[in-house]
Amino acid sequence: MSDLPQLLTEALTETRERTLRLVAGLDAATLETVYSTLLSPLVWDLAHIACFEDLWISRAAGVPALAPELFTIYDAIETPRSRRGELELLGTEESFAHMAAVRARTEALIGQVARDRSDLIELVICHEQQHNETMLQLLALARLPNPFHQTHAPDSLAGGSGGAAPTRGALELVDFAGGEVTIGAGPERGFVYDNERPAHVRALAPFRLALTPATNADWLEFMDAGGYRRDELWSPEGWRWCQEEQIERPLHWTEDGRLWRLGELVDIDPEVPVMHISWFEADAFATFHGLRLPSEYEWELAATLDPASGLQRPMPWGSEPVSRAWANLDQVSGGPLAPASFDGATRGGLRSMIGDVWEWTSSWFEGYPGFAAYPYHEYSAPFFGERYRVLRGGSWATRPRVASTTFRNWDLPQRRQIFAGVRLAGDA
Ligand code: AVJ
Ligand code: FE
Repeated sequence: MSDLPQLLTEALTETRERTLRLVAGLDAATLETVYSTLLSPLVWDLAHIACFEDLWISRAAGVPALAPELFTIYDAIETPRSRRGELELLGTEESFAHMAAVRARTEALIGQVARDRSDLIELVICHEQQHNETMLQLLALARLPNPFHQTHAPDSLAGGSGGAAPTRGALELVDFAGGEVTIGAGPERGFVYDNERPAHVRALAPFRLALTPATNADWLEFMDAGGYRRDELWSPEGWRWCQEEQIERPLHWTEDGRLWRLGELVDIDPEVPVMHISWFEADAFATFHGLRLPSEYEWELAATLDPASGLQRPMPWGSEPVSRAWANLDQVSGGPLAPASFDGATRGGLRSMIGDVWEWTSSWFEGYPGFAAYPYHEYSAPFFGERYRVLRGGSWATRPRVASTTFRNWDLPQRRQIFAGVRLAGDA
């Protein structure tokens, strides 16, 4: 019988194996290179993961931190991404050594911490897993080799198992009645982030939501119709951004009609969800179709409700971590897959709600009514307000423990390095 300390130790170990896998083929010079002001050098992520664990495990156990002098330079708020390249960071060897030292201390204290503050161990695990996705964004941006390239996607992701792809599923909208819906994570859920709480009721008007995220074929149509040149499709800020940055196609697409997929230049697969678009582009695409983006509440309702009966229906992924069999998660697939490639459909037929690509919503990132910061102010609260847009659903690069129907991601509307796409919505 597995007990809690053992389960948490296994999760910590599995998570660390993944972190190390992502950087396994890379030399110190590569790890220390600043490829972009949007993302940290990989070595920053490594030492930051260790410092975060040092902070929370030492607090949980009531022991001194191993290296408190590092907390400031590896604090995400005090040292924003754009400045991480300028600092005297730990070198590669020192970063790996610090990770190992902190982990050894965690393992030595695991019995006590699991009894008193298992939530903080969950936090440490989920934090490292979220950084695993950010690290993949950097690998994609720097066109470094695919760390999984010798791994085969699990059989359930091999393709073709879910029946025929719905034709133009991105433009087939399913009706939802709306009504009074519970949004957010209730007390029955174990560890979730503070911004998912408290669960609360919202009244939603009837709406429609697309069967699938927009595909590359949909995006090529938008481009061929002059989508990037027609200012009437764009918000004023979006159009300014599009012109200033001379945006003509999604990030990682090339002029000759191919795209970079984890270090490989490949043909654009028309059936695969479009990825690496900003909120501004998603919004213009919706306007092009006479539609709009869903609110995050509409998205959450659709992900958890059966539109046929209107009854709350726990999804296969429900309150449990999502299994790979149901959704394209966990990084090994190397990118989004055609929506028919696996069984991750809601009963209403919506596909790829979880996994494949993050879905931009119309919602600003705000605290839910009654929000309480936990376990620290800086995780969510500094980002609240009308600056960041919410993304839902997780991507192919999200680890299953992190992905759920209540998880809220956020980013600035011009950002494209994240694994984001779009699902259209409309009024009923
Ligand atoms: C939820 C992805 C926006 O990377 O800024 C990592 C996750 N928070 N360390 C981020 C996070 C603290 C966060 N996002
Ligand atoms: Fe972090």
